[in-house]
Amino acid sequence: MKTEYDFFMIERVHLKDKNIFPFQIYVFNPIHKKYSMFLNGNRPLTKELDSFLTFLVERGGKIAVLKKQRRTFLTSQDFHESEIPSLKSRELHELEKERIMNLKFKEMYDEKNGVFSFQSEFEIACDTDNFEKIIEFARIEILTFSVTQSHTISLALHLTKTHLNKDNYLNRIVATSYLFAKTANILDPVALSDIICGAYLSHIGYTQLPLSLLRIPVLSLTEKDKKLFEKHTILGNHLIKKSQLDLTDRCKKIILDHHERINGGGYPSMKYGESIEILSLIVGSIAHLFEFSSGKINGSKLPVKSIIINMKNKTFSPGLEFDFGEKVYNSLVTLINTDKIEEKKAA
Ligand SMILES: [Fe+2]
Repeated sequence: MKTEYDFFMIERVHLKDKNIFPFQIYVFNPIHKKYSMFLNGNRPLTKELDSFLTFLVERGGKIAVLKKQRRTFLTSQDFHESEIPSLKSRELHELEKERIMNLKFKEMYDEKNGVFSFQSEFEIACDTDNFEKIIEFARIEILTFSVTQSHTISLALHLTKTHLNKDNYLNRIVATSYLFAKTANILDPVALSDIICGAYLSHIGYTQLPLSLLRIPVLSLTEKDKKLFEKHTILGNHLIKKSQLDLTDRCKKIILDHHERINGGGYPSMKYGESIEILSLIVGSIAHLFEFSSGKINGSKLPVKSIIINMKNKTFSPGLEFDFGEKVYNSLVTLINTDKIEEKKAA
């Protein structure tokens, strides 16, 4: 379907007194926001059609020509593009200029570093406990997103620009969630921005909990404190609502549902199966991986690689979760080459 980006607008006077044109003429209907073909190329604009065109224009219709026929239009109507207001190049916004620079930077980065393999870089990052390259790659890529598409993309760009610049706990979750989503074939910048904003904001509810509570591993909390801790999802959702931050519903769901699990054993709503968005499961699984690794769940630190092996082998250990749904689970356990590690162990 053709969109506004495919057309430029002209006025009736730009058709002059001619009645045959080598380009197609479209009319934009402002009520239905649709472009319809009005006159095919090299077909006569009869008196009846001309009157009908005037009728449509008087009622708010706009005459449009395809951008790909711009040259044909200018030559046949003998205009310079500076004489057609919709063809005048507008001054780019600062953010758009920045994006053009970021696109060039990404090109140079790719040229210098070659193809980025998330799986192998993730394995190196786990081995060296250094996620700088993963975070840097995610940052460079996210900064090429369009600045004019949606609020969530703009917020994802802002958060990336201001925060995704050093190797820390939260940035590991954000960058890994983003690149992990791409391995699950989620490539739409809107969905990826939901992931970025959701991952950054999923624990904003912590700010409403006593700090002492957050310093205790989840499995060591009393039943009462555990219930309070689990409220961070609802509190986060409430804060977002109160702030009136313009996020998509899917992004809000990530914040509310990142602890929901496919088997219905999660919280806060014990959602089950497909009622949980895959993006919530992605952020939930990656956050869980780093939470478990850092000892936030059971009080003992464990390398990310060992957690993935345990997940793959479904080795049950207190607090370790893997009910993220088949698609997320399968992508998660293939994040590193566990066969190679197990072969090494056996040797
Ligand atoms: Fe959480």
